[in-house]
Amino acid sequence: MRTHKIAAIGADGIGPEVIAAGLEVLTALANKDGGFRLEVEHFPWSSAYYLEHGHYIPEGGLERLKQFDAIFFGAVGSQQVPDHVSLWGLRLPIAQGFDQYANVRPARVLPGVKSPLTNGEDIDWVIIRENSEGEYSGNGGRAHRGLPIEVGTEVAVFTRAGVERIHRFAFELARKRPAKHLTLVTKSNAQRFGMVMWDEIFYEVARDYPDVRTDRELVDAVTTRMVLKPKSLDVLVATNLHADILSDLAAALSGSLGIAPTANLNPERQFPSMFEPIHGSAFDITGKGVANPIATFWTASMMLEHLGETAAAQTLMRAVEAVTASKVHTPDLGGKANTADVTRAVCDYIGNAAPQA
Ligand code: IPM
Ligand code: MG
Repeated sequence: MRTHKIAAIGADGIGPEVIAAGLEVLTALANKDGGFRLEVEHFPWSSAYYLEHGHYIPEGGLERLKQFDAIFFGAVGSQQVPDHVSLWGLRLPIAQGFDQYANVRPARVLPGVKSPLTNGEDIDWVIIRENSEGEYSGNGGRAHRGLPIEVGTEVAVFTRAGVERIHRFAFELARKRPAKHLTLVTKSNAQRFGMVMWDEIFYEVARDYPDVRTDRELVDAVTTRMVLKPKSLDVLVATNLHADILSDLAAALSGSLGIAPTANLNPERQFPSMFEPIHGSAFDITGKGVANPIATFWTASMMLEHLGETAAAQTLMRAVEAVTASKVHTPDLGGKANTADVTRAVCDYIGNAAPQA
């Protein structure tokens, strides 16, 4: 029996609700003779914890997390704490501290879900987000606070090592998909240093992947292409901020932010990787039991894949698709179901599915 150690951090807003739902379906999969078991430890780190203790991650916290095979993360962000404090207090120290430089964001319209596009079924993308540097490097400062001469800088940092490894990761992933097509997203027309280097290194790496078709698109132009010609895209590689923006657009075009998953990967596996739904805290629906757990289920499937539990990962995606097709939808998808209804439907499907292994 394979054992996987999972650190669960529900954190803020609807995070704990969707993580609880995610753990329910994971348990259903493990019980369904998946050949594996999960050893889950819950970490209470959140904005409420911060307000009480003065920190999100206690001393030695990252060391403890290091012993896990994966981190299952809900959402961070609270109305009581400035966003940049919560983000830099919890999620970024994990992502950067564990060198989770490859952020993978698939997007497609699940069965039974309505895209705002008439040709939404053409969406089948994976956005690869550089997740360790660029515009989120944390390099900047403020001086002369409050004075008319006040200055604030936010320096995007691109390193050859950082750029090369994300492009290589994107090529490796593109190579495994049927279309074998990778789009370089850039802004090297206006940003003539880091972005030009970003492009140059892409084409250097491309030489090692003659089987992958490439093209290049400016980040502003790629938004129109996503809307007007979704079929013309497959895998996209973009900087930290560019991909952040594109992935929200991708989620909306796929029908809802409530279904979009993410993996923050340390591909070398020197550290645990972190899996989280994209949607964030969602204060407006927190505590109402109506959060869409589908993003978390899809995320859980990515986590299983990463842990080597391919059969269970596939069963989970089949269950998710069967449930979205049967219109058991939460309000963000126009339905009346709540989190528990969707979770139960997915667990029932898993329970009735053919044995996995
Ligand atoms: C995301 C989110 C975060 C980001 C926020 C919460 C800072 O939007 O994961 O896409 O920008 O990285
Ligand atoms: Mg975002």
